[in-house]
Amino acid sequence: MGKNIVVLSGSPRKDGNTDKLTAAFVEGAESAGNAVTCFRPADMNIGGCRGCGHCFKETGVCVQKDDMPQILDALRKADTLVLASPVYYFGVTAQLKLAIDRTYATLKEKLPIKQAALLLTCGADTDVTAPSIAMFRRILALQKWAEAGIVVAPKLHGMDEINGREELEQAKKLGREI
Ligand SMILES: Cc1cc2nc3c(=O)[nH]c(=O)nc-3n(C[C@H](O)[C@H](O)[C@H](O)COP(=O)(O)O)c2cc1C
Repeated sequence: MGKNIVVLSGSPRKDGNTDKLTAAFVEGAESAGNAVTCFRPADMNIGGCRGCGHCFKETGVCVQKDDMPQILDALRKADTLVLASPVYYFGVTAQLKLAIDRTYATLKEKLPIKQAALLLTCGADTDVTAPSIAMFRRILALQKWAEAGIVVAPKLHGMDEINGREELEQAKKLGREI
């Protein structure tokens, strides 16, 4: 049976390297019969978690009225989560992190997610992705999700530089086999 995959693609730069890496993953995943729902948090109205605890009192409901319920509702039906981001100052983008933080509202629920994957692009060499990979793995350990795969595409600056790169094939393969 096909998987139900939610992708959060965290680059603010539309159709840049991260979106292209994400598109390759989605192409592979859809070709294998999986259902994929993609969100670009940078294009959405998502406020930062205020840490008020309201969502813990009234399970899953945030005091902020913004676009986050779209993502949370999709996560409540997903078995697979994919996070994609360029490295910004050694971490994932603030826009993706806002969305990750806001999943706090679901921590008391048992989400159906079983596995997660990570797609990263960066300007320097692969070592700059270590903090993002460490964060990803700590989230997986906390949630008891399996690691489905990590694709890192380094040494990218201009928006089309990823074209023709082998990491696109790696992402497509990960999508097919997830
Ligand atoms: C604000 C900002 C911060 C960045 N910080 C890093 C960094 O710490 N390490 C790195 O290797 N590349 C860094 N980069 C480069 C991007 O990660 C890289 O060019 C990436 O491929 C851009 O992805 P995009 O095409 O999806 O926007 C930074 C770029 C920007 C705009």
